[in-house]
Amino acid sequence: MFGRVKPLDAILATAEKKSLHRSLGPVQLTLLGVGAIIGTGIFVLTAAAAQKAGPGMMWSFVIAGFVCAVAALCYSELASMVPVSGSAYTYTYAVVGELLAWMVGWALILEYAVAASAVSVGWSGYFMGLLKSWTGFELPAMLAAGPTWSLSGVDFSTGIINVPAIVVALSVTGLLMIGTKESATFNAILVAVKVTALTMFIALALPVMNGEHFAPFAPNGWFGPPGTSGMGIVGAAASIFFAYVGFDAVSTAAEETKNPQRNVPIGLIGSLAICTIFYLFVAAGAIGAIGAQPTALGVQPGSPEFAAQCAALVEQGKEPLVCSREALAHVLRAINYTWAGDLIGLAANLALPSVILMMLYGQTRIFFVMARDGLLPEKLATVHPKWKTPHIVTMLTGIFVAIAAALLPVGQLADISNSGTLFAFFMVAIAVLVLRVRDPKRTRPFRTPFVWIIAPVAALGCVALFFNLPIEAMLVLPIWGGIGLLVYFAYGRRKSHVGLGKIEIHEEDPDVPPQPVPPID
Ligand code: ALA
Repeated sequence: MFGRVKPLDAILATAEKKSLHRSLGPVQLTLLGVGAIIGTGIFVLTAAAAQKAGPGMMWSFVIAGFVCAVAALCYSELASMVPVSGSAYTYTYAVVGELLAWMVGWALILEYAVAASAVSVGWSGYFMGLLKSWTGFELPAMLAAGPTWSLSGVDFSTGIINVPAIVVALSVTGLLMIGTKESATFNAILVAVKVTALTMFIALALPVMNGEHFAPFAPNGWFGPPGTSGMGIVGAAASIFFAYVGFDAVSTAAEETKNPQRNVPIGLIGSLAICTIFYLFVAAGAIGAIGAQPTALGVQPGSPEFAAQCAALVEQGKEPLVCSREALAHVLRAINYTWAGDLIGLAANLALPSVILMMLYGQTRIFFVMARDGLLPEKLATVHPKWKTPHIVTMLTGIFVAIAAALLPVGQLADISNSGTLFAFFMVAIAVLVLRVRDPKRTRPFRTPFVWIIAPVAALGCVALFFNLPIEAMLVLPIWGGIGLLVYFAYGRRKSHVGLGKIEIHEEDPDVPPQPVPPID
C-alpha cells in the first residue's frame, strides 16, 4: 500500500528539466515568508486567543512559535534536498509513498484553501470596522458574518452570509486567473506596511501597559476547564498556530530560488524568527494596554454561547477585546488612538488580500503538481492560452474558498486550516527521519541539527496541538481524510503516473504539452 514512491532523483530531474527561472535570493525569500505569515492570525485571532487563555496567551504565542520553528527546521532539510514545488506533498511522495503523499496533498487543501477563507473573513472584519469608523455605514449584521457552527447544530443568530469576505475572495481569485502575480517588489511594500502597522501598535500600546491587566494570568489554566475542548493556554496555542502558517510558502518557491540549498533555510527560519518577535510584543501590548477581558470563562470563542454573550455586551455599549473582529484596531481605539486604530485597519485592508493571494497561489501550485503527477485530472492544470495561468483550478479553488468564507466564522476556519497543517507538518517531521535512515548518504545542504531530538519534538508538538484544537476542528481532519481516500481509490490510484510507470510524462508524452508555471516574481 505504501509501495509507490516517486524516486527523489526523478523528482529532481523533472524540476531540472522544467527549468523555472531562478530569481529569488535570501532577502526576497524571507520577505516572501513574512508576507505570507503576518495576516489574520495576529490581526484578528489575538481576540480568540485572549478568550481562550487570558494574558497566558503570551505563552500560547511562544508554544505555537516553538512548534513552527522545529517544524521549519525539518522543512528546511527536505526543502534544501528536494528544492521543487509541492511542499510537504512532494517530500512525502519521495519518502513514504503515494498514498500518504496524496493524504498530505489533500490535507494541504485545508491548510491553503481554508486559510485563504479565514483570511478573507479576517479582512471582512477590518473592512467593516474601517467603513464604520470613516463613514458610519454598517452592513446589516446578517450579511457581514456567517453562522456559528457546533456539534449541536448551526446557529444563524450571528449572521447568514459574509458578503465582504465573498467579494474579497472572488476578487483575488479573478486577479490570479488573469495572471496577476505579486511581484517581489510589491510584496516587499506590503510587508513594510504590515511591519510598520505592527510597530506602531507596539509603540502606542506598550507605554500604557498596566501590570494589573496580566492578572489572573491563566484564567482557563493550561488545558481549559474540564469538559471543554480547545481552551486554555495550549488550546490558544493550537489556534494561534494559524498566525505562523505560511512560512512553508517559502519552500514552495524553492524551484524559483537561487542557490536554494542555502537560501531556503534562511528564508524559512528568518521569516519565522522575525514574526515571532513581533507577535510577542503585539500580544504583550494588547493585554498590557486593555487586558484580555474574557467573557464567561471556559466559553469557546465562535460558539453560539460566546456569540450571545458578545451580542449582549455590545448591546450595553461594552465591546471587550475578545469579541472584537478587528482586535488590534480595537485596542488602539480603546486607548483613545482612534486615528491609529483606523490606520492599522487600513494596513490590514491593504495587506490581507496579499495573504489571500499567496494562500490561493500556493493551493493552485499544489493542485498543479498533483495534476502533473496524474493524481488529479490533468485538465485541472490546463493553462489559459492568453493569461498563461492554470485558470480552471484557480477558479474552482476560488469558489470553494468564497463559499467557506461566506459560511464560517474566522476562528473556526483557522482551526480547520490548522488541523490540515499540523498533519502535513507531522508527516514532514517523520519524512526527515525516514530519509535519514533510508538514504543517509544523499547530500543534505541543510541538515536539521539534533535531528533525533528536533524531528520527534516537531512531530509530538504537532500531535499535541492537534489534540488541543476544538472538537469540531479535530473531527474535520478524519472526515476530510475519508473523502480524500475515496477520491484516491476512485481516481488517483488508477491514473497515477508513478503507478502507470510514466514518471516524467511531460518530457516523454508529446500529447501532453509542458505547462509553464508562472514564476513568483
Ligand atoms: N499566518 C497567516 C495569517 O495569519 C495565514 O493570516
